[in-house]
Amino acid sequence: MRMPIEPFRIKVVEPIRFTTREERQQLLRAARYNVFRLRSEDVLIDLLTDSGTAAMSDLQWAALLRGDEAYAGARSYYRFEEAVRQLTGYRHIFPVHQGRAAEHLLFAVLGGPGKLIPSNTHFDTTRANIEHTGAQAIDLPIPEALNPVHPHPFKGNMNVEALEELIRSVGPERIPVCLMTLTNNTLGGHPVSLENLRQVRQLLQRYGIPLFLDACRFAENAYLIKLREQSQAHRSVADIARELFSLADGCFLSAKKDGLANIGGFLALNDDELAERIRHLLILYEGFPTYGGLAGRDLEAIAQGLQEVLQEEYLRYRIGSVAYLAELLRQAQIPIIEPPGGHAVFIDAAAFAPQIPPEHFPGQAIVCGLYVQAGVRAVEVGSLMMGGSNSRGALLELVRLALPRRVYTQTHLEYVAEALAELYAERSHLRGFRLVRAAPFLRHFTAELEPL
Ligand code: F0G
Repeated sequence: MRMPIEPFRIKVVEPIRFTTREERQQLLRAARYNVFRLRSEDVLIDLLTDSGTAAMSDLQWAALLRGDEAYAGARSYYRFEEAVRQLTGYRHIFPVHQGRAAEHLLFAVLGGPGKLIPSNTHFDTTRANIEHTGAQAIDLPIPEALNPVHPHPFKGNMNVEALEELIRSVGPERIPVCLMTLTNNTLGGHPVSLENLRQVRQLLQRYGIPLFLDACRFAENAYLIKLREQSQAHRSVADIARELFSLADGCFLSAKKDGLANIGGFLALNDDELAERIRHLLILYEGFPTYGGLAGRDLEAIAQGLQEVLQEEYLRYRIGSVAYLAELLRQAQIPIIEPPGGHAVFIDAAAFAPQIPPEHFPGQAIVCGLYVQAGVRAVEVGSLMMGGSNSRGALLELVRLALPRRVYTQTHLEYVAEALAELYAERSHLRGFRLVRAAPFLRHFTAELEPL
């Protein structure tokens, strides 16, 4: 059998609420055309994010009861530490409340004015945390990543020549760390190849620059390596994942993604001196080192989630669901970013609504149109998310349909595809937006807009 089915059966269900088109028009107006401002009960199918939205397994729910809530030295911490160490091999492991807390701690120590931090592509919170310290975040994707229809299997790769040029031109002492984001969320959720990571590692070693992974979606990246990198097809995904971590000096990971947890994350690294400085900040900003920003029960859920996420039947279903939705959209002629990656299907908003220029947010027009059409919530990843005073602007205008892990069925995906096909047929009616209010950074979360 080739059909990838959901590798679970459903034990608990949560009803979703249907609304009328008129209600949704009103709700969207009240939310100032920003879907982050909607109440989730007014959303039928929520593809805003794959972060913190996973359905936990029976074993994860059971693990919550084992949570040891002691302030110091909790049993749950040691279980968590062992799970993270088995996966990553790093010496120092700090739990944090979510990914951006790890970013804050790491860049508070390594960032600062005059510093440059390159990545294949920074996520928006990573960029904001770097730039908040006065350092500069630099994206160095391969050129193929900026061509929405290029079929390159690893559009998450770092442009190694551009990285070397940067190091030579500014000098390695201004680059305290280099990041690799697995997978590259902001340009399409594309994986990084093992070969590329090895090359980056070698280059950085020559210049004595440490490498850290933003490893939120490490399991999806490892599975895509197994599928797409011929020399790796014979290996287990867990084995590939361990090698990914072994090539870096440390990582931060939002467990809200491939931790299959609803909250949490960690920062893990080898360098003793760096760890000492981070430990002090952890106590100041997050909590005592054996719980960080989390309850004991959260640590238990993550420890269990990190094991489940590497099960190959799960990953086959996971990557298969994304590919299935992508195929339905292709059949409807909707322009998507090729090839689809690990956690989401991305629509090429510039091609979908070419009548709307970037400054009027074509992606946001599609997001709002889709909500009104069918109650489906997606997210803009373009000039609205990537613009603002602390940012570099958007490289692509995208709409992301992120799939929460283990939450929606094939029928839900078919409904989403049908809604998008209907919207696409009416695309000439889509109008752009004007920003009415915006915060100086991470503005998309709270921005208020007005239709033109
Ligand atoms: N790095 C990447 C690549 C991410 O995708 C995210 C979060 C973070 C870091 C920060 O982690 O949310 O736990 O603080 N991405 C979510 C998303 C918000 O919707 O893609 P966090």
